[in-house]
Amino acid sequence: MTSAHMEFDTVAHKTAHRVQRLRSSKVRDLFSAATSADVISLSGGMPDVSLLPQAALRKATRAAIENEREIALQYGATNGRIETRRVICDLMRDIGVRCKPDEVMPTSGAQQALDLIGKVFLDPGDIVLMEGPTYLTAIQAFSAYEPDIRCIPFDDEGMRMDLLEAELERIGRHNPQLKFLYTIPNFQNPGGVTMVPERRKRLIELSHEYDFIVVEDDPYGRLRYDGGHMIPLKALDPNVIYLGTISKIFAPGLRIGWIVAQKDVISRVNLVKQGSDLCGSSLDQLVMAHYFTDTPWQRTLQKFIKVYRARRDAMLSALDEYFPPEATWTRPEGGLFVWVTLPEYVDTDSMLGAALEAGVTYVPGNSFFADGETGKNSMRINFSFETPENIEEAIRRLATVVEERLELYRAFIDAGAIRPARSIATDGPNDAAASLG
Ligand SMILES: Cc1ncc(COP(=O)(O)O)c(C=O)c1O
Repeated sequence: MTSAHMEFDTVAHKTAHRVQRLRSSKVRDLFSAATSADVISLSGGMPDVSLLPQAALRKATRAAIENEREIALQYGATNGRIETRRVICDLMRDIGVRCKPDEVMPTSGAQQALDLIGKVFLDPGDIVLMEGPTYLTAIQAFSAYEPDIRCIPFDDEGMRMDLLEAELERIGRHNPQLKFLYTIPNFQNPGGVTMVPERRKRLIELSHEYDFIVVEDDPYGRLRYDGGHMIPLKALDPNVIYLGTISKIFAPGLRIGWIVAQKDVISRVNLVKQGSDLCGSSLDQLVMAHYFTDTPWQRTLQKFIKVYRARRDAMLSALDEYFPPEATWTRPEGGLFVWVTLPEYVDTDSMLGAALEAGVTYVPGNSFFADGETGKNSMRINFSFETPENIEEAIRRLATVVEERLELYRAFIDAGAIRPARSIATDGPNDAAASLG
């Protein structure tokens, strides 16, 4: 909270402890700056919905509003519309997961699913394992339940299983406080890395050995630009709780995500969801069901993939061309993000003001760590929303800002004012993530 807010804060002493711990999401804070005309935003995670075909949208919405108006505008069941749950089962079958409609809970985006999972499983002090860095609004959602969050670093093959095992040894087998491990195995947000099959198998083994639930969050799995389909963790083990969403393959403005889990989990989620929103939007669920049954959505998905692949390539080429040799970055095979690591002495949080002045935004790396401190020399940049030309220009602007920081540091070294810091980023692009911790 800023000091300007604090002056008028009349409820601080009444505010729950768990809310005092929460930090606002940097992405949300940057949203208005990022929509200003002279700024090229690399900070959001927005799909380019202008690529959606008008005809398909019209067809799906018209069917929901004209043919099913009384259902669409009415309250619905907490566990959602049956046609929506069937469509979700079809989408899951497509990626190798068999499930029944009563193992599915539609939610208001995958974001609500994260909150509901936290609400069902977490008491204060319970242990949650996550990749570090990870999706910052998952940190936010879980933090409201006051857990002890432990971050496991990743490298270019996904979460490091050796470091996970070491952490699990510290926690101990069958520790009742260890509740779940949250992972984004495909094109991780923010890292852009993908968990390789051997590590997926090992993760499932460890979940049984040490007794924890695996929560698999998979908003990007279908946005693959190179390589083949990865088997979801949920296909390896029915005990996995899988979170899906239409946000990146259709539209985030329709707030439709889902949980696929065993019925004992779904019934508990149903209980807490009643107190959260009674039911999700019937209109959104119907539009979603029509879109995925009555329109050529696979073709539209291919269009998204083609456009995003070109934008990713534009970003990687611009980084190669403009960024200094001290910087490294991941090379994602899909998804929306590249993770850049700068020398340790660069603080991307304090650099953001200069970047905004130069007309570009990104998200500072420390936002993606539960402690808000780790990862200060890194940043997440998004390639799904801007044109390739704008992406190149944004990277050029950003490179200038980074170069200024490096120059300043070099000048101090030359003047003997400080001793040189060890650079962690010298081993090639794909080692960037390995140096996070
Ligand atoms: C990893 C991850 N999980 C969940 C979400 C939330 O998605 P939704 O729009 O379905 O709420 C996002 C959104 O960017 C995300 O990146």
